[in-house]
Amino acid sequence: MTDLATLEAQIVGAIGTASDLASLDAVRVSALGKTGSISGLLKGMGALSPDERREQGPLINGLRDRAQAALATRKADLESAALDAQLASEHLDLSLPAPPRRRGGVHPTMQVMDEMIAIFAEMGFAVADGPDIEDDFHNFTALNFPPKHPAREMHDTFFFEANAAGERMLLRTHTSPVQIRTMVSQKPPIRIIAPGRTYRKDSDQTHTPMFHQVEGLVIDRDIHMGHLKWTLETFVGRFFETSDVVTRFRPHHFPFTEPSAELDVQCDRTGGELKVGQGQSWLEVLGCGMVHPNVIRNCGLDPDEWQGFAFGMGVDRLAMLKYGVPDLRDMFASDVRWLSHYGFSAFAAPTAAGGLS
Ligand code: DAH
Repeated sequence: MTDLATLEAQIVGAIGTASDLASLDAVRVSALGKTGSISGLLKGMGALSPDERREQGPLINGLRDRAQAALATRKADLESAALDAQLASEHLDLSLPAPPRRRGGVHPTMQVMDEMIAIFAEMGFAVADGPDIEDDFHNFTALNFPPKHPAREMHDTFFFEANAAGERMLLRTHTSPVQIRTMVSQKPPIRIIAPGRTYRKDSDQTHTPMFHQVEGLVIDRDIHMGHLKWTLETFVGRFFETSDVVTRFRPHHFPFTEPSAELDVQCDRTGGELKVGQGQSWLEVLGCGMVHPNVIRNCGLDPDEWQGFAFGMGVDRLAMLKYGVPDLRDMFASDVRWLSHYGFSAFAAPTAAGGLS
């Protein structure tokens, strides 16, 4: 005859020492499972005589009930201990300072714009700006684009819907309209640059529908091509940080300048790397020219009294060239990995005195 008291002590002891839910379940199976010790006793009752059964039955049932109760209590204790452990391990201290991780940076286009502003500011240029949404007058007509002339098709313009009078606003195709706004609102002498966004219906490896330009305008008395040449050569040398830049002015056509030119910089492209100031290649950097007398007249000034020069350059392309960015479209893909690779620290703003790159 099994000693029920000994068996109970064993089971209760095993329940007490089970340290997790899995070992507690093993104790339950060994006592109350199909072939468990208490189950065996319950099954064996059928073989007892009625008298023995009357005596043993309540004892065995009592043992089973107490074992079940002890298992349930221990299970609840272990579950709440497991929950406490999980809560402790998932604890977050929100008062801890954030780890020092760089999350972004200054975009190369903005860095290069700041560099350009620093260089021209040192030469006495002020910064001007105008709206991205322009009218036909400022973007084309005042800049001496003849009405219906194919020169207007040079730029694939984004037009808005026409108003009742049939006039269409547009997204400016260049920063040149800021020349007009400046000449109309300020008295000469004028020396400004106008950095900003520009838009054209164009998208491929070297074109994006939105891009950036910096415009320049000088209006004064007795201004000639020599002033333009010195200003732009000085700029290119400072921008590419070399004293031996070789430049070439190539005749070109723009409606708003006469004569007009494009400025190329001598460079070396061997080995996939761009070096300015050496080599056999030419790199087209900007458009420029002497402001057309019609443009000066369109702004209410007398071209016999006031002359000037102007220039315009693509900022994103210059940023790509200076900092080795291979694909223009990546510049505006808003990929933080790209930005943390090519971006600049916000604490390293370019200045003429402190360094430009
Ligand atoms: N606006 C011209 C363009 O987007 C660039 C340009 C050329 C601007 C000559 C000028 C200039 O001011 O004189 O292609």
